Amino acid sequence: MRDCHCEITRWLGPLGTEVNIDAAGNLRAFYSAADTQAPRLLLGSHLDTVPNAGAYDGVLGVVLAIALLEELDGRRLPFGIEVVGFSEEEGVRFGAPFIGSRALTGRLDEQLLSLQDAQGISVRRAIENFGLNPGDIPKAAVKNDTLGYLEFHIEQGPVLEKLRLPLAVVEGIAGQSRLEFTFVGRANHAGTTPMHLRHDAVAAAAEWIISVERQANEVPNLVATVGRIDARPGATNVIAGEARLTLDVRHSSDEIRNRAVDSLVREAEQIIQRRGLSVSHRILLNQQAIAMDSFLVNEIEQAIRHSGCETHRMVSGAGHDAMILAERVPAAMIFLRTPGGISHDPGESVELEVVAKAIECGLLLLDQLASSTLFQKRTCRA
Ligand code: GLV
Ligand code: MN
Ligand code: MN
Repeated sequence: MRDCHCEITRWLGPLGTEVNIDAAGNLRAFYSAADTQAPRLLLGSHLDTVPNAGAYDGVLGVVLAIALLEELDGRRLPFGIEVVGFSEEEGVRFGAPFIGSRALTGRLDEQLLSLQDAQGISVRRAIENFGLNPGDIPKAAVKNDTLGYLEFHIEQGPVLEKLRLPLAVVEGIAGQSRLEFTFVGRANHAGTTPMHLRHDAVAAAAEWIISVERQANEVPNLVATVGRIDARPGATNVIAGEARLTLDVRHSSDEIRNRAVDSLVREAEQIIQRRGLSVSHRILLNQQAIAMDSFLVNEIEQAIRHSGCETHRMVSGAGHDAMILAERVPAAMIFLRTPGGISHDPGESVELEVVAKAIECGLLLLDQLASSTLFQKRTCRA
């Protein structure tokens, strides 16, 4: 991440921006308006990735924000532009996502700071190890002069490809729950323990995983995923005494999502009772679904149309920093078509002409906002 910050800072330097890293490890670059006291518009996305990731999820949104500054070529707008490269959006290291963006909305709290990674290093300690001061986190919060937040991101799904459209405007983002389950049975010898005398944690977890898939299949538009499983002690000839699993559940209705999570917790309890094990769970995230700002959504649609494209509104199943920022400032997103709908995988890609369209649309949008007195009168919901 330090190398990434250095590289991006090298790109931003010649564009007349002031760059700094806030206490949550977010890169912040400010390109002021002609009037240095003018309010600001945030543009950005995240710089972290998932394991075995593609090259575009997150970072493309930061690169596009920088490309827009490049295109402005020194021209100043009636508002400043702050480019933000968020840290820790994916939640890979500590299990909880949006750590960087939560610092901007004042939600990077003690509970989040004390989460630990697989090596037992807390978020607080990781921040210190990076050379930053967790005591300065409150200074990372968005200022009251913030007009909004815009994020370009790959769609990460097949919808735009199916519609043969390059861009879409996001009108809402599905809520998501992330949990960790621990099934505890009894480790024992794989050769000497008869099948009916086992308390196999992996077998219990496997039964539950299948019911996660079945229940998600039964509810329209519900998605539920067990993306990680660790068996302990983890040897071919030992019945697993413990299995730790992650659960990720998403839906655009918070009620349906919460009901599904409750039902899956009950299902785990029924399975362990039948099999003579125990189970516990920790909630790592309960993020509500959120609507994007309707004024910005309309402006984006107009910019997409003016760039010669048909518009399409969609709900994002993926989580984004925009859903955190939306709690504090008007936020909206623009999706770019993702070939094959492949994401979170090295096969992830974007097409050059779609990126060019996104830059064209972004510039039109900035000019629309620059000539809108209505936009410039809006201030952040403190
Ligand atoms: C972010 O990539 C997410 O998991 O939604
Ligand atoms: Mn991602
Ligand atoms: Mn992303």
